[in-house]
Amino acid sequence: MCMSNLFVNRSLEEVQFWGRIMKEHALFLRLGFTVDQPKLIQEASHFHNLFESIEEKSVSFTDNADREHIVRLNMETYQATSHLWAFERKVLELILSCKIITNSYPLFVDHASREAAYFMNRIEQLNKGILEPLPDAVINENVFFLRIMSDHAKFISHLLDPSERNLITEAADLSYQLDQLLFQAVDLEAMRPASQTGRVLSRLIEESRLTVQSLYDFKRTIKEMVEECRLRSVIHPLLADHMLREAQRFLDLLDRFEASLTAGPKD
Ligand SMILES: [Fe+2]
Ligand SMILES: [Fe+2]
Repeated sequence: MCMSNLFVNRSLEEVQFWGRIMKEHALFLRLGFTVDQPKLIQEASHFHNLFESIEEKSVSFTDNADREHIVRLNMETYQATSHLWAFERKVLELILSCKIITNSYPLFVDHASREAAYFMNRIEQLNKGILEPLPDAVINENVFFLRIMSDHAKFISHLLDPSERNLITEAADLSYQLDQLLFQAVDLEAMRPASQTGRVLSRLIEESRLTVQSLYDFKRTIKEMVEECRLRSVIHPLLADHMLREAQRFLDLLDRFEASLTAGPKD
């Protein structure tokens, strides 16, 4: 694939994956607002429609699309995401100052805004043609995704009905393990650049993969139970699927890192 096609392919892949995620965040926020919050419901619906149109536009392009068109699509997506991010931060402020009560947890709103900020950063890197050095990417992505995964375990644990005792314990255990891994990754972040040897980074990837695979399996069980109406919870079926897709995204990234590290020079 030539450089231009690679840029188009990467951009469309990012915009389609994260664009759908942003659209679903808007939907989850909308579902969390109460009937006496029509303005917020309207704003959330606006973002849902906005990201739906971006998604539709992005699937209309092929890998042979003109580079300039994709640069524009990326910019438009960046704008939309930055507005969604600002909306989420505003909602968080309203919740924490007790101006509104919604059914979305503050950590969920913060979490969604962190994913928006991450997406904006990815688009910016793509459009500017910046490629983060592999050792930095391994640490940064682990710090970002382990926190996201740990949040998911906490959301599941808190959205389960209190009578689902065993599953709540399982979710809390996963959350604890992921927190430990996250702190380890943060420690390695502080030890840079000394911590960026092939062996140290490989172990980080291995340990993350092991626990994230367990989380993935747990999420898949939860998703199936929600879909088959076998679970007592307030988990929306789309949220169960959404969290599973994000875990898959992290697992794919870990595979890519492992492959690149194995291909690179040994130290
Ligand atoms: Fe998400
Ligand atoms: Fe998430």
